[in-house]
Amino acid sequence: MVTIRLEPLGKTLRVRKGSSLKDALHEYGVEFPCGGKGTCGKCRVKLLQGEIEIDAFHRKRLEELHLEGGWRLACLSRCHGDLVLAVDQYEIPIQGDETPFAFVPRQGLGVAVDLGTTTLVAQLLDLGTGRILAMEKALNPQQKYGSDLISRLEAALAGNAPEMTGMIREKIRAMIDLLLAGREAGPVKIILVGNTVMQHFFCGLDLKPLAFFPFESPDLGARRFHPRELGWEMQSGEVIFYPSIGSFVGSDILAGILATGLHRISEYSMLIDLGTNGEIVVGNGNRLLCASTAAGPAFEGARISMGMLATTGAISSVEPAEDSWLCRVIGNVRPRGICGSGLIDAVAVLLKQGVIDEFGQVISGEERVVLADPVVLTQTDIREFQLAKAAIATGTEILMKKLDIQPNDIDIVYIAGAFGSFINMDHVISTGMLGFHPGTIRKLGNSALMGAKMLLFSDLSLPDSILKITSHVNLESDPAFQDLFVDHMHFGTGT
Ligand code: FES
Repeated sequence: MVTIRLEPLGKTLRVRKGSSLKDALHEYGVEFPCGGKGTCGKCRVKLLQGEIEIDAFHRKRLEELHLEGGWRLACLSRCHGDLVLAVDQYEIPIQGDETPFAFVPRQGLGVAVDLGTTTLVAQLLDLGTGRILAMEKALNPQQKYGSDLISRLEAALAGNAPEMTGMIREKIRAMIDLLLAGREAGPVKIILVGNTVMQHFFCGLDLKPLAFFPFESPDLGARRFHPRELGWEMQSGEVIFYPSIGSFVGSDILAGILATGLHRISEYSMLIDLGTNGEIVVGNGNRLLCASTAAGPAFEGARISMGMLATTGAISSVEPAEDSWLCRVIGNVRPRGICGSGLIDAVAVLLKQGVIDEFGQVISGEERVVLADPVVLTQTDIREFQLAKAAIATGTEILMKKLDIQPNDIDIVYIAGAFGSFINMDHVISTGMLGFHPGTIRKLGNSALMGAKMLLFSDLSLPDSILKITSHVNLESDPAFQDLFVDHMHFGTGT
């Protein structure tokens, strides 16, 4: 065994000699956005003491990324002796849920789990009173295979699927053990919700259909397990992973529909989750249409040159100040990147200050704008943002068109997910991503977890009744898609 001390966290790990730093550090919030290909440079750590050998490939990557002087890419490094490494002090805010809801009491304890691509949240409930007895939050251990779903699918198809299924089941078991610590009775029911890819990982289903055209999986239905089938030691209880709506609209959105009551009311409402897939649901108690858009990666830091998750060191908001702007950095430290909420703000403010034009062009002709040294926004980053915002705006417009309704017909637009809680809606509207009146927009927080808790008090007939009125729409197959998408690339052209 060798030791790795992490500074400034002050943590010491003991790991097997020769272990990869990717395996050792992913639990400590070090991100591996490219899944360990050595291309993104975001897993860099600084070697303060000890030795990490680097081969020609690693050296070339460091040079290309301009990371000389003690930096190492954790994804390409192994520890053969004791090390002291500097890592940024990571902290990812993970959102729970404490929203009250009506329920019919049942006996025993229940566990609700929101299984996200980045984060995991589990709550233990007394089903007699509805009281939350304990909560556990963690990072998804699959992070070491990349931060986005495409990297995870690639890793799974490269032969890692069984390990990736094992690690997520094991992590959730460990979280449930912590929830139950000191209690004699186990849960009678454990409900999981998550996106379709996470559902396939957890349930051990074939991931190939989600990775290749036409991206249709035959395994979208609910899955029930006895804990022992998952390798968990619990003697009783039932584990249910709720059904997905479509290949890229999972049970987290189904839970969101339940939490908002979209399926029960006659007025039209919309639910938008700006997370990984940018999922949208529109409709009412008679008919719901849903779709996923390729919006998430930009908002989650992927494909943005200095993009990162909303952790310490990320610019999380940008406000105009006279003829310049002010950046707020999570943790009040030197900025090291920009997260999704900061990206939306930055583009909106640059647009307002006349630094970029309505086509997204930097007016000065420069290739980059310095937001707060050393963090810059490049012309390519602005294009990525335009693609993401056009995807959302086009998605909402096509779904409304199919229902033959206008933005004014929508009573409430719910914004779900942790990311949605932190964004400045005025900036979302001013960039044209959403063309609704600010008064109609309501931030929801973790509606997936809330819905999962509601499901603890029901049976499968409830989600079945929602699925019956919900249709999944393939946006790209709409004849107007291309034209609308191009239109929405411009700024200020909301739905
Ligand atoms: S360089 Fe991307 S994860 Fe290491």
